[in-house]
Amino acid sequence: QDDQFKKVISHAKEYGYVFQSSEIYDGLSAVYDYAQNGAELKKNIRDYWWKAMVQMHENIVGIDAAIFMHPTTWKASGHVDAFNDPLIDNKDSKKRYRADVLIEDYCAKIEAKIDKEVAKAEKRFGDAFDKDQFLATNPRVLGYQEKIDTTLSRMAKSLEKEDLADVKALIEELEIADPLTGSKNWTDVKQFNLMFGTKLGASAENAMDLYLRPETAQGIFVNFLNVQKTGRMKIPFGIAQTGKAFRNEIVARQFIFRMREFEQMEMQFFIKPGTQKEWYDYWKETRLKWHLSLGMGEENYRFHDHEKLAHYADAAADIEFKFPFGFKELEGIHSRTDFDLKAHEKYSGKKLQYFDPEENKSYVPYVLETSIGLDRMFLAVFSNALEDEELDNGTTRTVLKLPSVLAPTKAAILPLVKKDGLPEIAQQIVEDLKWDFNIFYDEKDAVGKRYRRQDAIGTPFCITVDHDTLTDNTVTIRYRDSMAQERVKIDDLRDLIRKEVDM
Ligand code: GAP
Repeated sequence: QDDQFKKVISHAKEYGYVFQSSEIYDGLSAVYDYAQNGAELKKNIRDYWWKAMVQMHENIVGIDAAIFMHPTTWKASGHVDAFNDPLIDNKDSKKRYRADVLIEDYCAKIEAKIDKEVAKAEKRFGDAFDKDQFLATNPRVLGYQEKIDTTLSRMAKSLEKEDLADVKALIEELEIADPLTGSKNWTDVKQFNLMFGTKLGASAENAMDLYLRPETAQGIFVNFLNVQKTGRMKIPFGIAQTGKAFRNEIVARQFIFRMREFEQMEMQFFIKPGTQKEWYDYWKETRLKWHLSLGMGEENYRFHDHEKLAHYADAAADIEFKFPFGFKELEGIHSRTDFDLKAHEKYSGKKLQYFDPEENKSYVPYVLETSIGLDRMFLAVFSNALEDEELDNGTTRTVLKLPSVLAPTKAAILPLVKKDGLPEIAQQIVEDLKWDFNIFYDEKDAVGKRYRRQDAIGTPFCITVDHDTLTDNTVTIRYRDSMAQERVKIDDLRDLIRKEVDM
């Protein structure tokens, strides 16, 4: 698992997807830059989301609110008082950790033991093996599962009650050690606010303390009535947006899974109070369908219903994805009630109510939220796509099997040799196709080597111009995943590519 994750990180760097931010200054922890291919992949994921959420829904519109917001926003939203992580320091190593993450990692290790037992039994029983039955009856597995359940539920309860002494006691009872040094010498657990502060204004006396937004959602709540009125929106309706969010996360080596500066794709759906359960179910199902439409394997997703709810929610579930380090949260679906709009009414003194013409009365709508991290989705797509594939001739190839609709470059145009007029024809094909797709031209090295390079970048099609092209206007198209090749007319290329890559 660790090895696969390391491979993902180094492949992302080597093939121009993700770089450490400010690398020449030795980088900045948990901050990353998207490189030439990464920026394209990220844009395509964003567009794929926007199309599904905004373009395909008549009753959802998109906005682009500012990162800076009036500071009272964060008082009203509860982030000033409640957006905290429980932190613990190791007295020997002087390293700081999230107490809840230490406990979750401990449970993940037990879960790995369960996986091992399953694999062992599978080997022993072969075709007769019934996994569900095994999980439900094997005493050792049941013991592990109970340990995980009691640990996580005690942690959730302690955090809910803000009983930080008990969180520390739990870490001591489980004998959790510093993952880097093995030391078990811990300080007390303390709450730490995750928001970044900054200042607005030129002079020190008049400067206003601001926060960088820790979620994009609040930009939607404060604009709710403006959008509803100017867009003549009728409930139920949604407002979507994508944009940067900032959190002072305490993290170690999680690559772009947990960052300090990241991008969210959020949608708030405004509904009639009392209908939240049906919309919660609707959006859970709709969002899962969106994920499955990318064809990254149904078995790699699962729902996780929250026991411990954020300060704003009456129900919440995560869509978890199987990352190289196990199942983790990819997207959240939250039933936020009227918490945010009511709070903004209270703090601003402005009414944030919707007049319902059917009911002939005004009310503060309830909100159903879908919230996904763009960078986290990037990691899901990228890590799922990366494969070392054994070929029939005994060699291996590294291939990035990205969903074609998301691939940064759709086709590479390759003249077989650098003479006889082949480069000129290849260039002409580039000129024709670049109006519709990102196209790459490559004439360097043997064609086999060029294929491998495109495999590693994830380009779904390689199009080779050879001597036959001179007489019959056909080219060879090679498919990344199957490596199959066929002969097609140059005139048919556009339609052929479009069929595979259109959103
Ligand atoms: N408006 C609700 C909200 O912000 P959240 O569960 O805190 O909810 C939503 O965040 C999503 O944003 C997560 O599911 C995750 O994909 C992404 N996300 C949150 N913190 C992140 C971080 N530090 N780095 C990358 N993505 C993050």
